[in-house]
Amino acid sequence: MRLLLLFMAGLCFAQERVIFDTDSAFFNDDGAALVMLLQQPEKVDVLGMTLVPGNLWPAAGSDYMIRILDLMKKPAVPVFMGARAPLIHTRAMVEKENREWGPVEWMGAFGQEDKPAKRSNQRRISQKLAVEFMINMISQSPEPVTVLAIGPMTNLAMALRLRPDLEKKIGQLVFMGGTVHEKNYDGRAAEFNFWFDPEAAQIVLRSAIPKKIMFGLDICNHAKLDKSHYEEIAGAKTPVTALFREDLGKKFAKDANASTYIWDCLAAGYLLDPSFVTKSEKAYLDVDTAFGKNYGAVVPLDRALAPDATEVEVMLDLDFKKFFALYKWLLTKVV
Ligand code: RIB
Ligand code: CA
Repeated sequence: MRLLLLFMAGLCFAQERVIFDTDSAFFNDDGAALVMLLQQPEKVDVLGMTLVPGNLWPAAGSDYMIRILDLMKKPAVPVFMGARAPLIHTRAMVEKENREWGPVEWMGAFGQEDKPAKRSNQRRISQKLAVEFMINMISQSPEPVTVLAIGPMTNLAMALRLRPDLEKKIGQLVFMGGTVHEKNYDGRAAEFNFWFDPEAAQIVLRSAIPKKIMFGLDICNHAKLDKSHYEEIAGAKTPVTALFREDLGKKFAKDANASTYIWDCLAAGYLLDPSFVTKSEKAYLDVDTAFGKNYGAVVPLDRALAPDATEVEVMLDLDFKKFFALYKWLLTKVV
C-alpha cells in the first residue's frame, strides 16, 4: 500500500521534460511563455532552449531570451542556435508575395538584418546545434520528452529528416501555429509560423509523432488581452512586469481600446494546466506548400501521401477567465 502511495505521488509530481523551441520575442509572447514555464519548476523541466528564425533571426532572438533567463534566475538553461533560415522560404520570395498578393503585414525576421548576438551572450550559446540537442535529448531521455514549438518548425523538421526514428520517440508535440477555421489577423489564410516555414510545418504534420496538440489561431483568436487585463499585470511591480510594461505599455497608453494576442502563452499554459481548453477536434492535417497566396495555409491531409501521419488535436476554444488567472499569477509571481 505504502509503495503504491509513493508511486502515485511520484506520478502526480512528475515533471514534464520540455524542449522549448522558440522564434523569440522581446517579451510577448515567446518571452512570456518562457516565464510561465520557469515559474513552475515543479511541473516543467525546461531541458533547453532551441532558437529558430521567425519573429527574429535566432542571434538577435538569443539576446532577448537570455535576458529573460537571467531575470528568472535560470542562467543554466542551455541555449542552442537552430536553423539560420527556413527550409525553402526566402526574402526574395516574400518580396514577390508582397508585389503579387498584397502586403504581408508582419514579415518577422524577413524584414530585419541578421546581426550577431551581443558579445556577452555569444559565449552563453552552446557549441552544439539545436538539431543535435533535440536528437540527443529525444533519443536518450529515459522519460518521454515534450517538444513545445512556438515558432516556425524548421528545427524540428530538420531533426525528423535526420532521424526519422525520433517521430515515435517524442512524447508529445505541443505547438503554436496554423489555423483550421480562422483567418490570420491581416485576413490571410496562413498563420505567421506556418507561413514563415510552410515546408517545415508540412514535414511535422505528415509525421508519425504520436501526440500533436495544435494551438493555432482557432483558439488563440479567442484569447485577447485588453487594457484592463494589461493593467492587472502591469500594476504589480516586479522585474518581469517591468519588461511586460516596457513591451506593451506604449501600445495601451496610446489607445485605450488596444488589444494584443498572447498566442504562445496558451501552448505553454497547456503544459501547466490543460483544463482551460473547452473545445477541440481531431483531424489529419497538411500544409499548402504551393507558392501562391495560400502558401502556408492548413489543408486536409490526403492520407495516401503520408500513410503513417497521426491526427492533430486542434484546440478550438477556451475558458479565457480561467486561463487569464493562471497567466496573471505566473507573470506577477515574485521570482
Ligand atoms: O501567429 C502567432 C505566432 O507568430 C506566435 O508564435 C508569435 O510569437 C509569432 O511567432
Ligand atoms: Ca513565437
